[in-house]
Amino acid sequence: MGRLENKTALITGAAMGMGRATAELFAAEGAAVAVTDLDETRGRETVAAIRAAGGTAEFWSLDVARESSVKEVVDAAAQEFGGLDILVNCAGIIGVDKPTHELTEAEWDALFAVDVKGVFFCTKHAIPHMIARGGGSIVNYSSIYGMIGNDEFTAYHVAKGAVSMQTKQDAATYGKYNIRVNSVHPSTVLTPLVEGIAADFPGGLPAYEEHMTGNQSLRRLGRPLDVAYGVLYLASDEADWVTGVNLPIDGGYTAR
Ligand SMILES: NC(=O)c1ccc[n+]([C@@H]2O[C@H](COP(=O)([O-])OP(=O)(O)OC[C@H]3O[C@@H](n4cnc5c(N)ncnc54)[C@H](O)[C@@H]3O)[C@@H](O)[C@H]2O)c1
Repeated sequence: MGRLENKTALITGAAMGMGRATAELFAAEGAAVAVTDLDETRGRETVAAIRAAGGTAEFWSLDVARESSVKEVVDAAAQEFGGLDILVNCAGIIGVDKPTHELTEAEWDALFAVDVKGVFFCTKHAIPHMIARGGGSIVNYSSIYGMIGNDEFTAYHVAKGAVSMQTKQDAATYGKYNIRVNSVHPSTVLTPLVEGIAADFPGGLPAYEEHMTGNQSLRRLGRPLDVAYGVLYLASDEADWVTGVNLPIDGGYTAR
């Protein structure tokens, strides 16, 4: 018996990286998974991999920054699978690496459209399905930089702070409907999002890993599954009394 048997889940940003790892793990644990992403080719690859392993998944093309598209896809997935139990808000972009006094309004808005409004839109349109079902679980991908600051990627870090707070606010609001809302906060995980940054770092990936893990107790970069297992726990009934939690999965970065 899988840990998500008879559950349906919609995951954004599931074409690659941690979203894909989460989708594959959820399907292996028995969930029917709505794989959604901007990237149709890779999204369909995720679905093919899940089906090849014996799981259930369908792909929907989705831009989380467009509310009409979000509503359409959430409704379609709930209709296809007969309801919605779990939403994982994973889609995200990192944007430009600038401090506050150099950021343009357009750069700020473009980042917030995906990383903040995307979580708002998906949550907004998933909640009515969960209320109709008598409960649900939402897991948001934030970051350690939604809890602490540093001197890089300012707009991204402020956006992830908003996701941390959206998590607590929605947890406080929707408990009366038996809907739980939690977030995960990874430090650096080796996914396509950071592979490019690592490749451009002087000395390449080994030097980047050394640099990025200097503040961690466990001095290696994260793997997508390290985080996906935390999301699985929070999404499952094992976490039935857990809501409003901002869970660091960070090799001990925020313990120091
Ligand atoms: N990789 C890290 O080190 C790290 C650390 C902390 C938090 N995070 C967060 O974890 C989440 C997953 O990160 P990842 O590293 O796996 O990223 P990734 O770049 O590997 O994958 C992100 C996915 O989101 C999709 N996406 C981007 N914009 C979208 C949009 N508007 N609508 C729908 N889909 C869209 C992309 O196509 C891609 O498939 C993100 O929210 C990211 O901010 C990542």
